[in-house]
Amino acid sequence: MLVLGIETSCDETGVALCDSEKGLLGHVLHSQIEVHAEYGGVVPELASRDHVRKTLPLIEQLLDQTGVQKQQIAGIAYTAGPGLVGALLVGAAIGRSLAWALQIPAIGVHHMEGHLLAPMLELDRPAFPFVALLVSGGHTQLIEVKGVGQYRMLGESLDDAAGEAFDKTAKLLGLPYPGGPELARLAESGDPERFRFPRPMTDRPGLDFSFSGLKTYALNTLQTEMEGLAEDGLRQQLRADISRAFEDAVVDTLVIKCRRAIKQTGAKTLVLAGGVSANRRLRASMQGVMQKAGGQAYYPRPELCTDNGAMIAYAGLQRLLAGQHEPLTFAARPRWPMTELASLV
Ligand code: KG4
Ligand code: ZN
Repeated sequence: MLVLGIETSCDETGVALCDSEKGLLGHVLHSQIEVHAEYGGVVPELASRDHVRKTLPLIEQLLDQTGVQKQQIAGIAYTAGPGLVGALLVGAAIGRSLAWALQIPAIGVHHMEGHLLAPMLELDRPAFPFVALLVSGGHTQLIEVKGVGQYRMLGESLDDAAGEAFDKTAKLLGLPYPGGPELARLAESGDPERFRFPRPMTDRPGLDFSFSGLKTYALNTLQTEMEGLAEDGLRQQLRADISRAFEDAVVDTLVIKCRRAIKQTGAKTLVLAGGVSANRRLRASMQGVMQKAGGQAYYPRPELCTDNGAMIAYAGLQRLLAGQHEPLTFAARPRWPMTELASLV
């Protein structure tokens, strides 16, 4: 079965073709960085309009690149939520209309289930059951996964998501949008010994997270240390050192909670997914911890960690293969708990 996936939940338009026999045939991505950069963050209305402009041309480009004819597509998967409602509606309307025109089934996919299953697109892929750490711009969740749709929430962020904390801290350090990757880059030249930031909520039992205090800690450190620092080079070094301390604190906190979750569930496999899982230091630390515990960590290649159409095509394919699809009406769900999803069995 060949499925076209469409992702338009935030600031990236992604389309992909995924086949049940041949795997991922191709995926194309358009990033809206240029649209939002001057505002320092995503402007929802501009995001919707850009998805309207880009989705159909990207699908044409994907069909050209892969040599696939529209008539070969057997199902369409679009992101139905969570996300920005206007942006979601663009993908849903296009996906549903295309499916109607081609007389094939369509399915609305949960964006975080897409992230969660993205490591399945790799040759070396995890087997169920596993514990998943989902770290994106909007979510930080630890989930016990027994199969597609069989999710038990172990813990989540009580305030800012990990990606959100990266983005907000980057902004107060004066880095451009999108902040997370920029902060990670700057942290490379930071001194890991200069500052030590707290590891929030690791001093008590439990698997929930809280990252909003770290950004305040970074701001206070910046304001105190910047005083009287006139030289540009020293100011830049201070920003790099703060970036490194912040990144180390987030990574360490995530690692500590994952170690706990593995112990608690007895799982041998940890899956890391969502935009922040592109972070080099997080990937390396998590692999180290899992190997020490006699297990293994899996994560997608970096381009499949952040938003993309391939993960939506893959998740939709699994559900369409199981006989699930949507009626001719469609809806977008800006808020959508993943634990409400149906199990495949
Ligand atoms: O999954 P994603 O592309 O979109 C959402 O579903 O939210 O995640 C985007 C988030 C942003 O907050 C971005 O700053 C963060 O992932 N991110 C990173 C890195 N690459 C992306 N954070 C830290 N280090 C990175 N290398
Ligand atoms: Zn995402």
